[in-house]
Amino acid sequence: MTSPIVNHLFANLNEPAQVLVIGASGGIGLALTMQLLGHPGVAHVTAAARHADSSTALVALAEAHPARLTVTNADITNSASLQALAASLVTPSLHLVINATGLLHGSELAPEKTLSAVTEVNLQQVFAVNAFGPILLAQAMLPLMRHNTSAVFASLSARVGSISDNRLGGWYAYRAAKTAQNQLLKTASIECRRTHPRLSIQLLHPGTVDSALSRPFQRGVAEGKLFDPARAAAQLLTVIATATPANSGRFVAWDGTEVPW
Ligand SMILES: NC(=O)c1ccc[n+]([C@@H]2O[C@H](COP(=O)([O-])OP(=O)(O)OC[C@H]3O[C@@H](n4cnc5c(N)ncnc54)[C@H](OP(=O)(O)O)[C@@H]3O)[C@@H](O)[C@H]2O)c1
Repeated sequence: MTSPIVNHLFANLNEPAQVLVIGASGGIGLALTMQLLGHPGVAHVTAAARHADSSTALVALAEAHPARLTVTNADITNSASLQALAASLVTPSLHLVINATGLLHGSELAPEKTLSAVTEVNLQQVFAVNAFGPILLAQAMLPLMRHNTSAVFASLSARVGSISDNRLGGWYAYRAAKTAQNQLLKTASIECRRTHPRLSIQLLHPGTVDSALSRPFQRGVAEGKLFDPARAAAQLLTVIATATPANSGRFVAWDGTEVPW
């Protein structure tokens, strides 16, 4: 990945970038990890997920980049796991953290079409990953992002978390959990103006991306609007490259347009 705008992401660092991607075994997270490793400004990537060490793709990538990639297991819903991840990093500072974890459906979990389908168990599961996880990740990693060089904490949200854009209804837990993620990280961005003047926190909508998360719901997607993960990752890195402390706390889509709250 050598696009000029992505080079800009690392241009104002006076040291090669230390990066963490969590959710790195997923569709978007894996593509981001691969593209970051292709960038000469990136010194090292830590790629995490709950079962990262059983991801064939991540293990192969680690074999290809033994000095620049560490693959490790971590659970974003567990603050002890995140603190252990922070303590295990190869350097004490981070320049870029990307949260690419997410949960929409599972063997016993489906996005609710009606109010009657909402359950306490599903709300808790979906909020644990999509809302509580990102702020616990920020709590664990932000102490490593307080330094004299630029830093970006980027978290994958979703346009369906926009309250003003909610025209279709449905997907109660996922929508509300993404909305909560946005509020939690926006709040952190305000605190960080004082504590982390070089940091930018970004909430990103990746578009509809062909991954395990979206696969059961791709039928209605308009022609040309389903991005393959490599394209989505390139678009997201281009947006991340425009992050500054001044626009910290924004909710921004893959094409650089701001998403209404
Ligand atoms: N795909 C889309 O169309 C789309 C649209 C809008 C927004 N998004 C957002 O984009 C992000 C990435 O989505 P994706 O499509 O790449 O999803 P994906 O392919 O399902 O990947 C999800 C990743 O999250 C990891 N993960 C899940 N629970 C975790 C936990 N508790 N702790 C640590 N890692 C966990 C998974 O690995 P393990 O299971 O091994 O932990 C996997 O690496 C999500 O936030 C999603 O909501 C996606």
